[in-house]
Amino acid sequence: MIPFNHLGWLFKYLGPVAYPKDAIAALCEFLKPVSAHAALLDLGAGTGVLSKFAYGCRKDLNFVAIDPAEGMLKHSPEFVRTHTASAEALPFEAESFETVLIGEALHHFQAPEKAMCEVVRVLKSGGRLFIYEFDPDTFMGGSLCMAEKLLGEPGHFYAPKALKELLESHGFSVLVNRYGWRYSIHAVLI
Ligand SMILES: C[S@@+](CC[C@H](N)C(=O)[O-])C[C@H]1O[C@@H](n2cnc3c(N)ncnc32)[C@H](O)[C@@H]1O
Repeated sequence: MIPFNHLGWLFKYLGPVAYPKDAIAALCEFLKPVSAHAALLDLGAGTGVLSKFAYGCRKDLNFVAIDPAEGMLKHSPEFVRTHTASAEALPFEAESFETVLIGEALHHFQAPEKAMCEVVRVLKSGGRLFIYEFDPDTFMGGSLCMAEKLLGEPGHFYAPKALKELLESHGFSVLVNRYGWRYSIHAVLI
């Protein structure tokens, strides 16, 4: 297993490097329809890298972050309210959030499909879900998948089509943006 709890100091610098500029621009575009001051949940937030990018274009939102690794969360920016918890058991009431972000984290979850049920539970109707991931069907994505499995990580990497279908089965309408071996999912709960 990757000892995230002890690596916050490192991921604070490594995390942002994995996001191409186009993905950050796509995130800002994705956030445009979100209501002013809406609650946003950063799931598997780590050191809050994705929240920081979102804050760059939507400073008005209420940022909440969860991660089981307190040693990652403690490096989050001060505008984020943090909770030590897992995606599979979210400590929030139903329909608490208008937006959920998951960046480079879904493949680390022990039970991503259970986590998806939790996302659907805490999202309001019409809520928006942004996922940033690596495509295991590409050379780079496949190599990362193999390396993480060797490190004892769950390695639940989804190809874009498979993740789109999973989300559609949960009632989302889904768009996929590709950035070479990386991609983002822009989903709306109908
Ligand atoms: C590679 S980091 C990504 C962090 C951040 N989202 C980013 O974009 O830099 C993966 C994160 O997933 C978290 N994680 C692992 N299992 C999790 C789970 N079951 N629920 C929520 N987060 C989890 C890890 O603790 C780690 O902070």
